[in-house]
Amino acid sequence: MPDQIRLLVVEDVPQVAQYVRGLLNSQSAIKLLDVVSDGSRVLGLIGELRPDVILVDALLQGRVKGMNLVAQIHQSGLQVPVIVLTVPQQPVVADPGNGVHGVLAMPFTGYELISRLQQVNQTAQVADNTHLARMITIFAPKGGVGKTTLAFNLAVAIGQLPMKTVLIDGSLQFGDMRALLKVPMEAPSLLDLPTDRIAESDLADVLWRDPSGIDILLAPPRVEMAEMVTVRDLEKTISLLRRVYEVVIVDTPAVINDVNLAFLDTSDTILEIVTYDSTAIHNTMVVADAFRMIGYPPTKVRYMVNRADSTGGFDPEVLNRALGRVPEHHVSSGGALVVRANNEGIPFVLADPDAQISQDIARAAAELMVRPAVAAARR
Ligand SMILES: Nc1ncnc2c1ncn2[C@@H]1O[C@H](COP(=O)(O)OP(=O)(O)OP(=O)(O)O)[C@@H](O)[C@H]1O
Ligand SMILES: [Mg+2]
Repeated sequence: MPDQIRLLVVEDVPQVAQYVRGLLNSQSAIKLLDVVSDGSRVLGLIGELRPDVILVDALLQGRVKGMNLVAQIHQSGLQVPVIVLTVPQQPVVADPGNGVHGVLAMPFTGYELISRLQQVNQTAQVADNTHLARMITIFAPKGGVGKTTLAFNLAVAIGQLPMKTVLIDGSLQFGDMRALLKVPMEAPSLLDLPTDRIAESDLADVLWRDPSGIDILLAPPRVEMAEMVTVRDLEKTISLLRRVYEVVIVDTPAVINDVNLAFLDTSDTILEIVTYDSTAIHNTMVVADAFRMIGYPPTKVRYMVNRADSTGGFDPEVLNRALGRVPEHHVSSGGALVVRANNEGIPFVLADPDAQISQDIARAAAELMVRPAVAAARR
């Protein structure tokens, strides 16, 4: 059951524990992970069991008393909401500022228990989402137009602003970032993240810390492993990264499939790379139609013309007419600088910040971060 709420109960009175177990029998909305009677074990168990909500008896005895445990969980920064279980004679006030996200007074029905758990879980998720990172997915319906090169350099340029930036290698089959950075086969990938409640501490072991200052979540090392990545796990990973970072950049392959749609759906901005090339423009039009059908607002997509100075005899006006607007960003050809930087696995924006192409990327990075359209699209 993917959407089950994972519950940890801290209760030292066997009858009450039995009562709660009974209420949660034969229902599937809540998954009871464990009932523990020793409050001092709870902080350790949170990392292990990854509960979505913890139910704590206010009258818990032992080394760590009930309300002390609530305070400990709150101060731990683990950000797991707590419901306090109490008796009418000992009222407890719900106060998220003090780590009490909900209260249940004995006796309560199964319906009351489950709906309180759902409400607290829901509120916690909404609160989580209020300061989410901005997410930009680099996309193109045609291969080889520069997505990976631009995604990497743009992420580094945004990191220089400075903003805490993570780059997701969304080209799951071929792992373009792996190739570009020449990371060893055994470097961990997004498949190494746990699939249940992912915690911030899991990220440290899995992310590739690039010398350029950004963190990179690599694709699996082998083609066939791409199929092991589910949209659901991916969404959880994205949601965690958006809580930990200020900006999430995604490099994608030139396909429209479930995984790419998951990236595109959750993005604030789709940065679509176009070139002066009739196939690229044709495919861009087809995709614009598809995006309209899906219901993406036009402001969600921003166009970036790559190699904008090499029109190859193409009239830019043809592109503008096809897109129905002037593209928002233009990036020049970088020639040997790009080839050299890519071969060395370093970003050209750091190798030669004064080059025209580096300046173009720096400008795009700044514009992408300030443009109100980004915030508007998110709303
Ligand atoms: N502005 C540019 N100036 C010079 N070379 C560029 C530029 N943009 C991209 N390239 C070169 O074009 C090639 C393809 O780029 P890249 O791999 O980034 O494209 P892609 O869209 O990610 O391809 P794929 O569809 O295979 O994922 C690379 O060799 C890269 O160095
Ligand atoms: Mg690529």
